[in-house]
Parts: sequence; C-alpha cells; structure tokens
Amino acid sequence: MEKIILTGDRPTGRLHVGHYAGSLRERVRLQNEGNFDKIFIMIADAQALTDNAQHPEKVRSNILEVALDYLACGIDPNKSTILIQSMIPELCELTFYYMNLVTVSRAMRNPTVKTEIKMRGFETNIPMGFLAYPISQTADITAFKATTVPVGEDQEPMIEQCRDIVHKFNATYGETLIEPKIQLPKNAACMRLPGIDGKAKMSKSLGNCIYLSDEPNVVKQKIMSMFTDPNHLRIEDKGETDNNPVFIYLDAFATDEHFKEFLPEYNNLDELKAHYRRGGLGDVKVKKFLNNVMQSILDPIRTKRHEWENKKDEVKEILYTGSIKAREVAAQTLEEVRNAMQINYFNK
Ligand code: TRP
Repeated sequence: MEKIILTGDRPTGRLHVGHYAGSLRERVRLQNEGNFDKIFIMIADAQALTDNAQHPEKVRSNILEVALDYLACGIDPNKSTILIQSMIPELCELTFYYMNLVTVSRAMRNPTVKTEIKMRGFETNIPMGFLAYPISQTADITAFKATTVPVGEDQEPMIEQCRDIVHKFNATYGETLIEPKIQLPKNAACMRLPGIDGKAKMSKSLGNCIYLSDEPNVVKQKIMSMFTDPNHLRIEDKGETDNNPVFIYLDAFATDEHFKEFLPEYNNLDELKAHYRRGGLGDVKVKKFLNNVMQSILDPIRTKRHEWENKKDEVKEILYTGSIKAREVAAQTLEEVRNAMQINYFNK
C-alpha cells in the first residue's frame, strides 16, 4: 500500500510558532525523510468558511499568507503538493454521501467541535456546515487515500470521526476507503504550545501568538513580556518550571546545541531547570536565552518568506498547479466511491 500524507490548515491568519511546533516542523521532516510516496498539504479555505461565512475576504486574503508560511518553513513544492480545498469540488460530493453515515448526535459529540461551538457562541445557532466540517475533513483525508495525517492534538477527534466514517462506508458499500492514522508531535510541549500570556493555547483571537513572519524586534518584545511563574519575584526565589510558558517553549524548541551556542554555562535544559527550581536564576536571563533560540529558528524562515514574498506570481502558480493535480486524484477516488455505492448509472 502506498504511504500517503494529507494534512492542512484553515487560512484564517498567518501561521504561528504553535503551528510550527505542533505540525509544520514534523511535516517538513517527514517530507525530507522521503519515506512517503505522496504528500498533500491543503489550505482548507472551505472549512475556514464554516465559521467565517460572513467574512470571506478574511479567508481569501490569508490563502497566500499560509502558502508563504509553508514555503518559508521548507515545504518543497517539488516534493509536496500544496492545494486549495475549494478548487476540488469532488470533496463536496464525497461529503454529501458521507453525511448520511453520521448521526447528528455523533456529530455533536466531537469534543473539538463542542469546544469551538462554545468559543464562537454558536450554542443556540450552530451553522449546519460548521457541525459537518469534520465530515468534510473526512472527505479531504479519504479523497487522497491518506494513510498518515500529521496534525496537532486538537485534531484527534477529527481523525477518530474519519475512521468511524471509513468503517461505516466500507461495511456498507464494500472495502473502498483507506483508514488513516494520526501522527502527533513526539514532544509533549509541542502538542499544545501556550500563548505568551500563559493561556491554554496560542490563538489568533486571544492575541497571544508569535507569528512565523514577526520581525526580530517583535519576537524579542513578545518573549521579554512573556508570562512566567507568578511567584518567582526575586532572583533568589525558587521557581516553578512545569507550568511556566517560558520553559514549555524551551522544551519545544531548545536543543543542546543552542546551549553550546548561547548559554554554555549549562549543558542542557535539565540543568537550567534545576537551577531555576532551586532559586538564583532570574527570568530575564532565561527569556534572553529563549529569544536567542527562537531567533535562530525563525531567522531562516523569515529570510525565505521575504524571498517568496517577492515572487508572489510563482506562489500562485504553485497553488494552481498543485490544486489541478490534486483534483485528478480526488476525482479518481470519487469514481471509486460512486462505483462502490452503485450510483454510477451510466458507466459501461
Ligand atoms: N481542521 C484542521 C485545522 O483546523 C484543518 C484541516 C482541514 C485538516 N482539512 C484537513 C487537517 C485534513 C488535516 C487533514 O487545523
């Protein structure tokens, strides 16, 4: 069986370091490792519209931003196909058939959807399309016969719901669809990077993000203003590292090489944490180190992004060709689905 990756993002804003730690970095690694036969990366504009129907311009204007972020991080259009979801109408038809295999109560049970309904104040007025977006996501995944979906932890319920639908479809119409598995980041800190304010998750609407495209002085200013242990007031105070955003970021990003380069008095993060816990280590020193780590990761990304920003026509061409190529794959799957359902009335 071919090994195929499909993954994607909603284009509702520029991507941030939470996206990078949670999924982008892993995608680039998998891409360059070369163990997959095909990789599809989807800019999920139709899904973004399920809760932005009143603001299509927000979605439209962010398609290119997300594409620039992908290319800047090292997604290589020669190795991975980048596509725009709405350019593949076959996905809608698949969604329509899959909807019959999901009950409303099952759709309402999806924990991520539940949280999002609350966050968006949809409780009494859930748009149909929003409730159905995990079903459309199943179409995204199965249309490309994905075996692996590298995403963050919040997407776990989507993959579970996808697997339910695949089972149901195959049991009803015969073995047709491929069951995918999720690939989560290996490091726990990467799963759910908190915002710079220490709030549960980095999120655009909370204004607590460090964007991949932030300029160096902006990154520095955000890091220096980061939330830490509120009881660590003086340098000599003992500090907490477990729920401390600065240390969670270091868990997600700092390597022993970073210590050698920027903070050679410590060999590794364990030594730095131990010092913070026993007292005598100030927040400013730790934040300066984190800033050096983040700048060394973000510098090459920013440089590459600026290069691509000067070649926007080329980026549009990449999106167009990728979408056309992806559409052929999805059309093939749709035909198989229609055959399995025996609604291919006029095929010979
Ligand atoms: N739901 C994903 C997110 O919010 C985006 C997405 C759409 C996706 N279709 C997908 C992710 C298919 C993986 C596979 O980030």
